[in-house]
Amino acid sequence: MIVEAAMDYIRELFKENADGHGFDHSLRVYRLAVHIAETEPDADKRIVSLAALLHDTDDYKLFLTENNANARYFMERHGVDPETADRVCEAVNAVSFSKNKGKQPETIEGRIVQDADRLDAIGAVGIARTFAFGGKHGRPPEDSIEHFYEKLLLLRDLMNTEEAKRMAETRHMFMEEFLQEWKAETSF
Ligand code: ADP
Ligand code: NI
Repeated sequence: MIVEAAMDYIRELFKENADGHGFDHSLRVYRLAVHIAETEPDADKRIVSLAALLHDTDDYKLFLTENNANARYFMERHGVDPETADRVCEAVNAVSFSKNKGKQPETIEGRIVQDADRLDAIGAVGIARTFAFGGKHGRPPEDSIEHFYEKLLLLRDLMNTEEAKRMAETRHMFMEEFLQEWKAETSF
């Protein structure tokens, strides 16, 4: 099955990434995206699955590829037809927060994977990822608190699908609770 092959491919691809976040994150995004897709009858599940699993394989922060080369290499080798490959890449390219400022992805598949990626940036997982990212860049926890106000607390209101909006609510409240407790403990 192509989905298992894609999992193997990204496990190998993100191996160099010492914290393993690339693989674990992509797997969570895949599960979230499949779950959201089940609530969106118009979504093509095959496109959603592949786009979720491959959404960070050409992330400029990790790879110096052009034109989704890693994702395309995988799909070509596994006999994915060019039209499907293009649709997967279109969804992948619509996900990025910084690259598409303010623009909603045009396809339902892109909107779903974007929601899944954003859900994985908030809640308990989002908190853990934020401090892991800061630590990796040599920053003390205090410095990473900024990131909640600059980005993470804004994500709830940027969700595209009804199911992601619903799921974001719990995760958002958990972050607010965390920040409140942080304030209480650090201003003691
Ligand atoms: P993705 O893996 O989905 O492409 P990013 O690479 O943008 O996500 O970020 C990885 C994780 O690090 C995310 O959880 C994100 O919120 C967090 N992060 C990104 N920028 C910062 C920052 N300046 N400070 C703290 N955390 C950050
Ligand atoms: Ni991601």
